[in-house]
Amino acid sequence: MLKRLHIKTYGCQMNVYDSERIADVLAPHGYVTTASADDADLVVLNTCHIREKAAEKVYSELGRLRQLDRARRARGEKPLQLAVAGCVAQAEGEAMAERAPFLDVVVGPQSYHRLPELLAQRARARGAVVDTAFPVESKFDHLPVASTPSGVSAFLTVQEGCDKFCTFCVVPYTRGAEDSRPVAAVLAEARALVARGVRELTLLGQNVNAYHGHGPDGRTWGLGRLLRALAEIDGVWRLRYTTSHPADMDDDLIRAHGEVPAVMPYLHLPVQSGADPILAAMNRRGTADDYRRVVDRLRQARPDLALSSDFIVGFPGETDADFEATLRLVEDVGYAQAYSFKYSRRPGTPAAIMRKQVAEPIKAERLARLQALLQRQQQAFNAAMVGRTVQVLVERDGRKPGQRLGKSPYLQAVHFDAPETVVGRLVDVHVHAALPHSLAASCGERPSMGAVA
Ligand code: 5AD
Ligand code: SF4
Repeated sequence: MLKRLHIKTYGCQMNVYDSERIADVLAPHGYVTTASADDADLVVLNTCHIREKAAEKVYSELGRLRQLDRARRARGEKPLQLAVAGCVAQAEGEAMAERAPFLDVVVGPQSYHRLPELLAQRARARGAVVDTAFPVESKFDHLPVASTPSGVSAFLTVQEGCDKFCTFCVVPYTRGAEDSRPVAAVLAEARALVARGVRELTLLGQNVNAYHGHGPDGRTWGLGRLLRALAEIDGVWRLRYTTSHPADMDDDLIRAHGEVPAVMPYLHLPVQSGADPILAAMNRRGTADDYRRVVDRLRQARPDLALSSDFIVGFPGETDADFEATLRLVEDVGYAQAYSFKYSRRPGTPAAIMRKQVAEPIKAERLARLQALLQRQQQAFNAAMVGRTVQVLVERDGRKPGQRLGKSPYLQAVHFDAPETVVGRLVDVHVHAALPHSLAASCGERPSMGAVA
């Protein structure tokens, strides 16, 4: 009998990838995905623990789903099964099952391949079934071949976990130690994705440039070498990777940016702060000038490279002068895009108990100033595209008739009028306006290189 599965995903791209794999794991057990919780038999919340707000959202959503379940039971309908996956599940485990006793399953990011088994156990158990172990065997050895439909662009997890222990961050606790998938497994998954029409791969890892996978030659491969091998696969037109740590940008990876045309000239390289004392307190393993040097070397290798970053304001001990240093770094580097956050105290992390926590209004004021500057830079970057020809990987139809939608090398959304046949191809378009969330362009219908595949 078919069962309906609704997955709600919070947080990072790794969770987006995991949610697709969860659908793949459940598909052989008769689950088909549905876009709404209302008609679902099973709802999976794939959660994020990175900041307090993200984690709290889960409990309010659980409250809503519980009401839905009660209403169904009152009408004599089938009850809703409820599973929580992801990093909140990992961090809270049994405590979550106690706080929300109506849950069926609580499963961490390393064990979701066991979901069918856990759901079966639930039928026999009295309370929620909790699995937040870090199994010795990788979940990747147990996941079925991907069956979830994907478009022209797909995520591919190559590395998981983090050994960096930045003092603000829960990731090393929720995702565990760094672990890289073997090269052969990554290449096989890439080939399978390409066979299904994928042309752009975004390699994922909490610390993706720390990748050190076992190679078919018996050696350990770094990310640069992996990118070169992926670029050799017929049908791989674009490669990206995220998220990276500045300290792990090794020479070979930097060279790959200059030598491998499929590697897109756009890199998310979080710096967090521009002040050395704060970077030290964050345990970021480098100074602001170290970061500037990495950026310089990347731009020497690939002059058209654009950057994106993450920033935290109001980290414990951050002074006005420290914050000004962050603004200076932003001015020096010039970002195409960035995410910025107020520091959020996460229980169990070293920074949570540091003295000199910054008051909320100061955090808010700094965030507003930083975001205003980043916004100006983003607008200037987008405005500079006007009048230029850019290559777009066409993803789908746009909202208006005749309109198609795709991404520039810099992940800008670009829309333009063109025949349906361009979907899935690379086309050169002429940009004539930079709108708040996209670029408007026109297409001369001259499909370029990759388009003839
Ligand atoms: N408070 C605020 N921002 C945080 N991030 C991670 N942990 C915290 C925290 N405790 C941000 C960092 C990271 C991004 C994914 O989330 O900027 O790069
Ligand atoms: Fe968190 Fe730092 Fe690891 Fe990134 S590098 S996941 S910020 S601990």
